[in-house]
Amino acid sequence: MKITIFGTGYVGLVTGACLADVGHDVVCMDVDQAKIDKLIGGQIPIYEPGLEPIVKHNAEAGRLSFTTDTEAAVAHGELQFIAVGTPPDEDGSADLQYVLAVARAIGQHMDGYKVVVDKSTVPVGTGDKVRDAVRAELDRRGLELDFDVVSNPEFLKEGAAINDFMKPDRIVVGTDSDRARELLRETYYPFNRNHDRMIFMDIRSAELTKYAANAMLATKISFMNEIANLSERLGADVEAVRRGIGSDPRIGYHFIYPGCGYGGSCFPKDVQALARTAAGCDYEARLLNAVESVNLSQKYVLFDKVSHYFQGQLDGKVIAVWGLSFKPNTDDMREAPSRALMEALWKADAKVQAFDPEAMSETQRIYGDQDGLTLCGTKEQALKGADALVICTEWKEFRSPDFASIAATLSEPVVFDGRNLYEADMLSRHGLIYYAIGRGRNQFQVG
Ligand SMILES: NC(=O)c1ccc[n+]([C@@H]2O[C@H](COP(=O)([O-])OP(=O)(O)OC[C@H]3O[C@@H](n4cnc5c(N)ncnc54)[C@H](O)[C@@H]3O)[C@@H](O)[C@H]2O)c1
Repeated sequence: MKITIFGTGYVGLVTGACLADVGHDVVCMDVDQAKIDKLIGGQIPIYEPGLEPIVKHNAEAGRLSFTTDTEAAVAHGELQFIAVGTPPDEDGSADLQYVLAVARAIGQHMDGYKVVVDKSTVPVGTGDKVRDAVRAELDRRGLELDFDVVSNPEFLKEGAAINDFMKPDRIVVGTDSDRARELLRETYYPFNRNHDRMIFMDIRSAELTKYAANAMLATKISFMNEIANLSERLGADVEAVRRGIGSDPRIGYHFIYPGCGYGGSCFPKDVQALARTAAGCDYEARLLNAVESVNLSQKYVLFDKVSHYFQGQLDGKVIAVWGLSFKPNTDDMREAPSRALMEALWKADAKVQAFDPEAMSETQRIYGDQDGLTLCGTKEQALKGADALVICTEWKEFRSPDFASIAATLSEPVVFDGRNLYEADMLSRHGLIYYAIGRGRNQFQVG
């Protein structure tokens, strides 16, 4: 099938590459010339495990190409996927300017039937806005062409995006058109052979499904962080509590890890946007607002612990930070807890020596001008001359570090672990003081 994808970010590029990999003829369009130049030159602008060989292989086979030419992109696909960003507006609602710009472009250039498939995460009702935008452009051109609008939200996880796309738990399609339904069924047929993963519904329900999924996951995290904060005050170990409740199949072990808050390009903005949508229909989303507010304060828990340990005297202290991306296996720093920590440390006149396996250039891009930041080539280098170590992201290579050398290198033998990677006695054997999240009264208490 001939498919056009607008947006070559985490979602668009993965979608385009995977659809080409099963044999579709895919054109990826982006307004970012530098990104498209890189892709044409065989470089991948983001870090996503397994993506590079799929892009290369399909580009070489002639099934995947990249362009900034809107007209050619619209001409190519019967299916036009919109996978552009929907960042938060000033009031937290989703900014639809990029989605609607693509819709208008499709209306300006289409010359036959198209299915406009919205893959971006968009508020309920956006399907109508996309339809109106396409139609307004057709009216301006004096044309009456058939088209359908479909909501096909994406559930991939950065860091495991290829596997998620190739073996999806579900493929949600919101449509009111039989013709579009059949085209989507055909598009996804290769991903659907083992059992039927397609769930068809109306457009509004599909749009809400995506927000409900992210809001539910964010709720689990904030819930567990609240239990962690209680554990610290009550002398309980949240890791024991986690195992205790996870064993109940109604609860399950997934997504109940306490930590230093959720980040990334989706949960924070989607929880906020859904709360704004609720406010827009005169409903106060008390639970969603609480999920967000627990997360906002959780992002400062590590800083509070560090500051408390040093009795508020952080001026001139050097803090090693391991893990900058918002989660492992990605270079994405959007809303990462490491950012809240580092910015708070700089405000307190501390210095940061930071290391991340993949997010160093992204950190350089965001904080390159920051005097208080030294980017280090290895996790060991980050420790040299540092007063304490803080871990923000649970990358595999941080799981079994050389504790003896950490103890020997840090000027204060203290580790703050925002992801509960270790057991306190592993570290105390090496003379390290260990502060984690929610691990009993022996843990550092804030406030
Ligand atoms: N990143 C994720 O893990 C994830 C998962 C599921 C859903 N989503 C949703 O998917 C959407 C895209 O997310 P992302 O992380 O891939 O974003 P991204 O910021 O990585 O990429 C968006 C791309 O769209 C391009 N773009 C902007 N305007 C354009 C236009 N008019 N025409 C063509 N390209 C244009 C940008 O240049 C950019 O390359 C968002 O709505 C997001 O909420 C993201």
